[in-house]
This record gives sequence, structure tokens and C-alpha cells, in this order.
Amino acid sequence: MTTHTEKIPCTLIRGDGIGPEIVDAALHILDAMKAPFDWREQTAGLVAIERGGDPLPETTLANMRETKLALKGPLTTPVGSGFRSVNVRLREALQLYANVRPGLSLIPDGRFTDVDVVLIRENTGGFYVGVEHFIPIGDDPRAVAEASGFLTRENCTRIAKFAFEYALRTNRQKVTVVHKANILKKLTGLFLETVTNVSAAYAGKVELEERIVDNCAMQLVLNPSQFDIILTTNMFGDILSDEIAGIIGGLGLAPGANIGEDAAMFEAVHGSAPDIAGQNIANPTALLLAAAMMFDHCDLSDMGNRLRHAITQTLQTPSTRTRDLGGKLSTTDFAKAVIDRL
Ligand code: NAI
Repeated sequence: MTTHTEKIPCTLIRGDGIGPEIVDAALHILDAMKAPFDWREQTAGLVAIERGGDPLPETTLANMRETKLALKGPLTTPVGSGFRSVNVRLREALQLYANVRPGLSLIPDGRFTDVDVVLIRENTGGFYVGVEHFIPIGDDPRAVAEASGFLTRENCTRIAKFAFEYALRTNRQKVTVVHKANILKKLTGLFLETVTNVSAAYAGKVELEERIVDNCAMQLVLNPSQFDIILTTNMFGDILSDEIAGIIGGLGLAPGANIGEDAAMFEAVHGSAPDIAGQNIANPTALLLAAAMMFDHCDLSDMGNRLRHAITQTLQTPSTRTRDLGGKLSTTDFAKAVIDRL
């Protein structure tokens, strides 16, 4: 077991909506575990707008560049108009190019009990670059809308190598590359071509298969246990990881890591859930599982395993689950139940 005499500096962003509630729950549990993190709290999102007008203050970014590690609650992004997604800006600014989203069956009475898939999403390109505009025609200034997607061979190679190395490191056998190269022939065609090229170096160790995204979406619903690692582009990854969350029981159970060469940020897959914010009913499991991934990242896998074990034990029976999973526990009581099982 790794022992830390010095605490590990870690940026903490509570986030919007249910963010502060689930972050509080996670901090209670991590405190109970004596997790060796030195929290450096920063603001982002709606709170940061209220304080200084910018949803991603330079001080927050500078702090993350210094600690190189962050635990983050969800951040609200207005639909349609308004500021650009802080999440996307963070991933770009820190070059957190790999989004790792595991989907594991944790509920024994769930719809599927044998799902163990890791979705790896290219996190910096595709349609998320935010290059879009309206073209006016006549007196309609918004007669046509146009969006561009960007992917470079370099970035495709980077994420492909990450996925295959991840497969080797975690003893996974197969990478399924998911694309839409029949329609987006260049944008996702380059992705497919590059991943296929990179896979040659792993032949005999990690198998490569390919799926068109629509087929993958259907196969996930029919037989999710056929997938091991799914490697895909930014938008497909966003959509399919919510689908995987639904398959394993809901967004309350799906964690994610955003990994780059110089920094890593851990969060839930879900958003700020404004519909249930402030009610102490949100499920903190996704953020807790993200914290477990952060332990692994910091070479503290013993602590990660201890946390995952306590969560799994707590989720065994409906009586110790939150409402989204058919239970009655509040966010805070769920946290206490996890602490009891640590
Ligand atoms: P959402 O993921 O916040 O919520 C979708 C549904 O799942 C809601 O009914 C919500 O109550 C439920 N839900 C989500 N997390 C839950 C939890 N922990 N426990 C119990 N129920 C939970 O998606 P939505 O409503 O589309 O987005 C809300 C905001 O979050 C938007 O502004 C969006 O841009 C932002 N967002 C932020 C993300 C991030 O910070 N990484 C990721 C996804 C969305």
C-alpha cells in the first residue's frame, strides 16, 4: 500500500444544482477514510458568474494547472444562447483529451447484471469545438445554421494510443471503435482510419472491432455485455455514455475521468440536475465512483477499492439506496450508510 506523508493538493469545485450536495456527501466519506487530499476550493459555473461575471475564472484555471488534479461537481450550461460550456472550456484549456467513463452493473436486481464496459471518448474535438454560425437569407438573420467539426490525425492517434494502453493496463481484451464513417466520411472516417492504424501495434494483445454508432446504440440496449472498451468521438461518446448509464441503472451511477498529459479532473457523467437541486435527494454515487477513480490515478488503489466496496455493499438492497434507484435514503443518509460500510 502506498503511504502518503504529505497531502496531495487537489482543486475542488462544488458546481451548480445538485453539485454542492453531492460534493458535501463525497467530502464526508473521504474525510471518514482519511483521504490524503489537501482541498483547494475554487469556483466555476453559475456561482462564478455571480461573483465575477466569468463562469471559468482565470484563478480557477491557474489553480488547476498548479494542482494538476481536480474533483468537480456538475456545471450548468444554458441551452441555445449564453456562455460556452465551462466543461468543454476546461477540457480544452487543460488538454484533458481522454474522457474515461466506466459502466458497471452494481445493482443486483437491475435490468442487466453483467455489464462491465469502459467508454473512452475523444474529449477535445469533433463538433464540440464550438465553430458554428447562422447564415442570413432575406430578412431572416437565422435562416441557415452551420456547425463544423474538427479532428486532427494527431489527436486521433493520441486517444487511440490511450485506449489501447488502457486496455493493456486494465486487462481488457477488445476495443470497439464507434463511428459514422458511412455519412461523416472525413470527420469520423479519419478517426476510424487512425484507430485502425494504431491498433496494428497491439495485434494479438487487444482485438479491434468497429461499429457504426446507430448499430452500437441498439446493441448496447440488446446485449451490453458484448462490449469491453468503446472508443469513440466527442459527441457520440457523450450520447452513448448516458445510454450506458441508463443501462446500468441511471445517471446516479456513472462516473467519469478527464485525463491529459499534465492534469486530470474527476466528475460524474450527469449534469447539475436542476429539477432535484436543493432537496437532498440526489444520488452521490457517480461522484463517489469518480473519487475512487481519482484514488487509482493517485496510486492509492487500496483506498479506491475500499470506497468501491463500501458503495457496492450499500447498493445491495433497495432500503439503503436513494430515490432514483427505488430507495428512500436522502443524499446525506446515503453518505452515512456508505461510511458505515467502509
Ligand atoms: P442531468 O444529467 O443534470 O439530469 C438528467 C436527469 O437525471 C434529471 O432528471 C436528473 O434529476 C437526473 N439525475 C442526474 N443526476 C442525478 C443524481 N446524481 N441523482 C439522481 N438523479 C439524477 O442533465 P440535464 O438536465 O440535461 O442537464 C442539466 C445541466 O447540467 C445542463 O446545464 C447541462 O449543460 C449540465 N451538464 C453538465 C455536465 C457536467 O458538468 N459535466 C454534464 C452534463 C450536463
